[in-house]
Amino acid sequence: MPYATEENLTDLAVERWGNTHTPRFRELMQSLIKHLHAFIREVELTQEEYLQAVDWLAKAGQICTGKRQEFILAADVLGVSMLVDAINHRLPSGATPSTVLGPFHIDDSPEMEIGANMAEGIQGDTCYVTGTVSGLDGKTIAGAELDVWQADSDGLYESQIGSEEPRLRALFHSGADGKYVIHTIAPSEYPIPMDGPVGDIMRKTDLNIYRPPHIHFHVSAPGYEPVVTHIFRKGGRFLDCDVVYAVKESLITDFKLMPPGKTPSGEMSSKPFCVVNYDFVLSKNGAH
Ligand code: BEZ
Ligand code: FE
Repeated sequence: MPYATEENLTDLAVERWGNTHTPRFRELMQSLIKHLHAFIREVELTQEEYLQAVDWLAKAGQICTGKRQEFILAADVLGVSMLVDAINHRLPSGATPSTVLGPFHIDDSPEMEIGANMAEGIQGDTCYVTGTVSGLDGKTIAGAELDVWQADSDGLYESQIGSEEPRLRALFHSGADGKYVIHTIAPSEYPIPMDGPVGDIMRKTDLNIYRPPHIHFHVSAPGYEPVVTHIFRKGGRFLDCDVVYAVKESLITDFKLMPPGKTPSGEMSSKPFCVVNYDFVLSKNGAH
């Protein structure tokens, strides 16, 4: 085995990392080394840039907590999360497309009845999200679980506010006819967290740092592939430059402003309100 030179270092490292416990880990590590070395050779990384990168990674690690994951945020803004999502969710056409989960999902949201208000006491424009959950064959799915979460009208999620109570998140189940109704507030655009190392690199660019207005969903039912997705407000700002690349045409939905009157949950409203209709379509387990 020769000693390392600039010329042979990549081959040496690839060969050495051939000695792994599983073939998949070997494939991952050897490919990573090839691409990483090719990047360093292409840009001729300076010693200073190398140390800056190491420092950046250390800072990203230090800012992570149980509620904050700076590496996922970095993957999001680099388009990496959406690429992994796309490769792993090649769904049949007609199925509701998936998107990234994002950093603000919280497990074990409170269960709510169809039509219940998950924005009780929170300021914002009243909004009802309604629709059906069905399979690709068009059959409606009763009892599908809709795990829903969103930001408030200032663009803040529960974990950013540090609320003691569950806030703007809930679990709903579709009814016997596959239908669901969610009473909430209209979402607004918001910037990604900019107070950490991801913010530091974004500030070195003129890139948009905002997400367009959206509501997050995780929809699941026995026998079907669960889908993590968002619905986006048609006409909302930043749809064409979402900082995390999550917008897909079929997820853009009208938020129709309705005059005062009967709401989708059956109550009377003395004020105008928004109605959104979105039908989720799930593919059967193992269909992709
Ligand atoms: C979100 O929509 O909650 C989100 C997703 C990725 C990065 C930042 C925020
Ligand atoms: Fe979000």
